[in-house]
Amino acid sequence: MPKKNHSPTGWDAVADWYHGWVGEHGSDHHRKLAIPAILDLLQLKPGEKLLDIGCGSGVLSTYVQQYQADYIGVDVSQRLIAIARKQHQGQFIVADARRLKSHSSIEPAAYDACAFLLSIQDMNPLADVIHNATYALRPGGRVALLMTHPCFRIPRLSGWGYDEGRKLQFRRVDRYLTPQCVPMKSYGRKQSGNTISFHRPLSEYVTALSEAGLVIDALREITTYKQDNDKARRLADQEIPLFLGLGARKLGS
Ligand SMILES: C[S@@+](CC[C@H](N)C(=O)[O-])C[C@H]1O[C@@H](n2cnc3c(N)ncnc32)[C@H](O)[C@@H]1O
Repeated sequence: MPKKNHSPTGWDAVADWYHGWVGEHGSDHHRKLAIPAILDLLQLKPGEKLLDIGCGSGVLSTYVQQYQADYIGVDVSQRLIAIARKQHQGQFIVADARRLKSHSSIEPAAYDACAFLLSIQDMNPLADVIHNATYALRPGGRVALLMTHPCFRIPRLSGWGYDEGRKLQFRRVDRYLTPQCVPMKSYGRKQSGNTISFHRPLSEYVTALSEAGLVIDALREITTYKQDNDKARRLADQEIPLFLGLGARKLGS
């Protein structure tokens, strides 16, 4: 994967399909796993300012209201921001996560927390994105990243297998250490367009956070909510995480 890939990664081309899938309150994965996990990592307090980076159609904004926090969502997709403005309260801005510094509405050190809800794996280069989030955070501010687990869920390069002799389901990982730029499938019949996902080993996330001056203080590994009837599949689901959550803090207070 090229180190400096500034090609567009926004989801304009699949905005209607994505909105249909997420709906107003989030997909099952959002509601049952991803949103509770990111809220737990964020630990928002009343009056705090949250910047939701790669906010898509703004699903997180509704859930932030219970903390009386101030929500600002940014996304590079104009179409998803238009949908977010229509269906949610809160401020929504069209902005590229790699260039927040040059956006007039994003002030430096002005936010108590930044969230990446299932968005960091769709952004590249990682170092630029983390650096720009750190710019927006006040000293002592938090960042929370929620993503599909990069060690086990590598698009097109991992999958399930069944060991007949041991009667167990296992996870197969074909490649892991080499970063990958993965074009995802086209979505729906009415909506044509691909999105790009970026696989990186866990070490790249840790390095990017620490090089930006962030200290990791939380790591969560989250398994699916699904209860498969098949014993082997159920056991594998309980052992192999679906999502990874990382929490980090900007130095200073
Ligand atoms: C899987 S969607 C997640 C959206 C939302 N957080 C959610 O959970 O529904 C990934 C989002 O990242 C956005 N994105 C990708 N690259 C971006 C960039 N460079 N700057 C801002 N947003 C970006 C896409 O437009 C898309 O809305």
